[in-house]
Amino acid sequence: MRVLLAGGAGYIGTHTAIALLEAGHEPVLLDDLSNTSDVVTDRIAEITGTRVPLITGDAADDEVVESAFDAHGPFDAIIHFAALKAVGESVAKPLEYYANNLDTTYALLRVGLARGIRSFVFSSTGTVYSDPADLPFTEEATRNLVELSNPYSKSKLMNEVALTDIQAVNPEVNVTLLRYFNPVGAHASGLVGEDPKGIPNNLMPFVARVAVGALPEIGIFGDDYDTPDGTGLRDYIHVVDLAEGHVAALEKAQPGLASYNLGTGNPVSVRGLIESFERAVGHELPKSVKPRRAGDLAATYCSPEKAERELGWKATRTIDDMTASVWNWQQKNPSGYAG
Ligand code: WQD
Repeated sequence: MRVLLAGGAGYIGTHTAIALLEAGHEPVLLDDLSNTSDVVTDRIAEITGTRVPLITGDAADDEVVESAFDAHGPFDAIIHFAALKAVGESVAKPLEYYANNLDTTYALLRVGLARGIRSFVFSSTGTVYSDPADLPFTEEATRNLVELSNPYSKSKLMNEVALTDIQAVNPEVNVTLLRYFNPVGAHASGLVGEDPKGIPNNLMPFVARVAVGALPEIGIFGDDYDTPDGTGLRDYIHVVDLAEGHVAALEKAQPGLASYNLGTGNPVSVRGLIESFERAVGHELPKSVKPRRAGDLAATYCSPEKAERELGWKATRTIDDMTASVWNWQQKNPSGYAG
C-alpha cells in the first residue's frame, strides 16, 4: 500500500516508515519539521536503502495535503501522527493544542476522503481513559471527556469522537484508533530515535541525557504513590513494537471503525526503568526524589489482548531492550539529529 504519514518525520512516524518499508509498503512523509529534522530521510535511507519522499508543510492546510496527493498520490491510506503531545504544555496552551490536533485531522480527512483513501489510522493515546478503577484498561474502559486532566488528552478523545461520526457516513473508509501507552526506545541501528527539543518532559529521554552527562541528575517525581515501590507505574512499549502494530493495523483493517490499545500490559515503575537503564550503562546514575508532578497518575497500563486477537500483533521487546536501544541511540547521537 502507498501510505501518507502525516507527522511522519517525527519519533513514531520514522519508526513506522521503516516498518512499512520492511513490510513492502510505500510510505510518504508529510511534516512541518517543528519537532524533528529532515535528516531522518537520510537515516531511513541508510537503514532501508530507500529514500522516502518528504513533503514539508502544515498538515492542517488543505493545500499542503493536496500537494502531497498531487506529487505522490494516489494513497491507499493515511496514518495521522501530526500532533502536539506534551501533557504539561497543553495545560498552558489549550488553544494551540485544540486547534492543531483537530485542524490537522479535518484537513487530512477533507482531502483524503475526496481523493479516495480506503483507510485512516489515527494516533491516539491511552490517556483518553479516565477512570483508574478500570485498570488494566481495555478498549471499552471509561473515556469521560470532562474527567480528563489536560487539553492534550481531551483533544485526542475529541478526535476519536469526530472520527467515529465521520466514518459512520463514509462506510467505504476504515478508521482505526491506536491508543498508545508510553512509547520509548530506538531502532536497533541507533540511527533514528527520540530527539525532544530542550529539556525532556518524559522520563526515558531525561534519563538518557543524564546517562551521557548532558543533565546532572534524574528527578524521581514522587515515591509515595500507592504502588509496589512508591513510584509511578507506566506501560512502556518499544517504539519498534509500536511501529509494527501500525503495519498490522493497516494490513488487518476491517470495514468500519475499531480501536486498539498498543501497550505491553506489563507496568514498570520509575525506579524500575532507571534500574534497567543502569544495567544498560553498567553503573548507577545520579538521582533524587522530588515532589510529585501535577497531573500525574499513580499508574496507567493496558490490556493489549484485543490487538493480539484481532491484529495478530503483540509487543515482544522488554524494558531492558528499550533502555539498551535508547542508550545505543544516545551514545551515537549525543546531540540528537543536530549532529
Ligand atoms: C512517566 C513517569 C512521571 C519525568 C507520556 C506522554 C504523553 C502520553 C503518555 C502519548 C511518571 C515520572 C517523569 C521525570 C519522573 N504519550 N517522571 N521524572 O506522563 O506517562 O506521559 O506518555 O500519548 O504524551 O507525555 O510520561 O515519561 O512524562 O512520565 O519521575 O523527569 O515518570 O511522574 O510517573 P507520562 P512521562
